[in-house]
Amino acid sequence: MTEVAVITGGASGFGLALGARCAERGLRVALLDRDGERAEAEAEALRETHGVDAVGLTADVADDGGVRAAAGAVLDRFGRADLVVSNVGVQLFGAVERLTDEEWRWVLDVNVVGAARVARAFVPPLRAAPAGRLAFTASSSVLDPAGRMAAYQASKFAVLGLAETLRLELGDDGIAVCVLFPSGMASRHLETSAAAQPDHLRRPIGEQEDFEAMAASNPAMVQAVVSPEEAAGNVIDALLNGERYAITHGDLLTPVTTRHEHLRRAATAARGTG
Ligand SMILES: NC(=O)c1ccc[n+]([C@@H]2O[C@H](COP(=O)([O-])OP(=O)(O)OC[C@H]3O[C@@H](n4cnc5c(N)ncnc54)[C@H](O)[C@@H]3O)[C@@H](O)[C@H]2O)c1
Repeated sequence: MTEVAVITGGASGFGLALGARCAERGLRVALLDRDGERAEAEAEALRETHGVDAVGLTADVADDGGVRAAAGAVLDRFGRADLVVSNVGVQLFGAVERLTDEEWRWVLDVNVVGAARVARAFVPPLRAAPAGRLAFTASSSVLDPAGRMAAYQASKFAVLGLAETLRLELGDDGIAVCVLFPSGMASRHLETSAAAQPDHLRRPIGEQEDFEAMAASNPAMVQAVVSPEEAAGNVIDALLNGERYAITHGDLLTPVTTRHEHLRRAATAARGTG
C-alpha cells in the first residue's frame, strides 16, 4: 500500500506545497487545517492533478479534541500514517517590552503545545508504520534570529526542543524525527495568523515599525524570500528520507558556525570541571 503523508497547516503555503510534493511522488495525502474548506478544496486539486487519494480535514491544533478526531479520521480513511508534518505556526511581531502574557500564551499554545498535541495523536500510527517519520516546521530564525519576533522565535526554539526530545523517546520505535527550517517564503502567513488570532487578542500581527526594526536587525532574513513551492521542493527528499535537519534555502553557514564556535568554546572551558 502506498504511504500516507499528514500535514497540519496543509491548506496553504509551505504545508500545502509539501503536500503537493508528496502527492507528486505518489503518496496519499491528508491536509489538516483550521480552514477545513480550503484544505478540502486543495485536496481535491491534488486528487485531480496527481491522481492520488487526498483528503482535507478541519483540525485546529489549539484544540486537542479536534486534533485527535482528525487523527481518527485519517486512520478511518487511509488505515495508516507514515509521514506526519507538524507545520502550523502563527506569527506575532512586537518588542519584548510590548508583548503581553496573553499574547505569549497564544503563540506558545498554538506553535509549541499544538505541535505536541499533533505528536501525541499521531505517534501510535507512526509506531505501526514500516518507516515512520515525524517532522516539525521550525524556522531559519532559530538559526539566525531577528528582533521583534521574540514570541514566535522562542516558540520555534521550543519546537526544536520538542523534536530533539522526541528523537530520543522514539528512537527505539524506529520513528525518524526531522526538523525543517524554512527561510523567508512569500505566503499568506500574516493573513492566516490574523485569522487565527483569538478575538480578545485582536491587533495587527505586525506594525510597519516592527517590520523595519526586524529587517534592520537581520537584513539577510528579508532578502532570502522564495515561493513555498520552491522551498518545499528543496527539502522534500530530506523529509522523505527522515533526515535530522533540512534548511529550505539561504546562506545560514556563518550564523550556524558562529553559534557553534561559541558553544564549542564554552564546552571546552567546562571540560574537566565539575
Ligand atoms: N512564510 C515564511 O516566511 C516562513 C518562514 C519560516 C517558517 N515559516 C513557518 O512555516 C509554517 C507554514 O507557514 P506558511 O508561511 O506556509 O503560512 P500560510 O499562512 O501560508 O499557511 C499556514 C496554514 O496554517 C493554518 N493554521 C493557522 N493556525 C492554525 C491552527 N491553529 N490549526 C490548524 N491550522 C492552522 C492556516 O489556516 C494556513 O492554512 C509555519 O509554521 C511558519 O511559522 C514560515
